[in-house]
Amino acid sequence: MGQETFSAVDEFVAATLVPHDEALDGALEAARAAGLPAIQVSPPLGKLLQLLARLQGARTVLEFGTLGGYSTILLARALPPGGRLITLEANPAYAEVASASIERAGVGEVVEVRVGAALDALPLLEREGAGPFDLVFIDADKVNTPGYFTWALDHSRPGSLIIADNVVRDGSLAEADSDDEATRAQRHLHEMLANEPRVSATTIQTVGVKGYDGFTIALVLDQ
Ligand code: SAH
Ligand code: DHB
Ligand code: MG
Repeated sequence: MGQETFSAVDEFVAATLVPHDEALDGALEAARAAGLPAIQVSPPLGKLLQLLARLQGARTVLEFGTLGGYSTILLARALPPGGRLITLEANPAYAEVASASIERAGVGEVVEVRVGAALDALPLLEREGAGPFDLVFIDADKVNTPGYFTWALDHSRPGSLIIADNVVRDGSLAEADSDDEATRAQRHLHEMLANEPRVSATTIQTVGVKGYDGFTIALVLDQ
């Protein structure tokens, strides 16, 4: 058993439980045609994000890392009428591809794509009085995941969910002496979560089309 099986199972789950969808296929095709890396969430993880947003009744979503808009469209579709999603993308070319796909998916009114490094976008969001966000999906540059988490927590409410992708990183999360900056950042995130009374969190390892990785979910608690 290995990568071939992991991919086959993801493909079976996608074929059975993640409905075929022209707008999502179109977003993936537009991203491929424009040469974007195919590093979007797997269809089953995307569906989980959508289910979590619905379970939680999310109306306001913040996403770090848009890429071609695949996870963005899934999350936007989980929102009730009047819901809003802000997504932050450093690469202007990616943001352009994403914006077109988001329009075609019919969620252009719901989604705002902001171009620029997320750390630069946050002060403006702050000045605008943005938030509290019901759900935050952290999926941009991995070294800054702890910083994005801190900002997300400070702009959340009890009951908010903060989800961070790519925390397990082929299992390197368990390596205390890792000299990989991205891995060290995920270990730091876990230490922050352990010492943060405002949240309760866990991390789930995953295998699938993207190999071996995992995500963290933190629930913001009643104070
Ligand atoms: N959430 C997307 C995948 C995001 S991939 C999906 O699942 O469909 C990570 C994205 O983060 C890339 O598009 C990359 O350009 C972007 N990124 C990298 N550094 C960033 C930064 N500092 N600020 C905002 N976005 C960044
Ligand atoms: C990669 C994967 C991701 O899910 C992501 O958000 C960023 C990068 C990667 O495999 O490089
Ligand atoms: Mg990711």
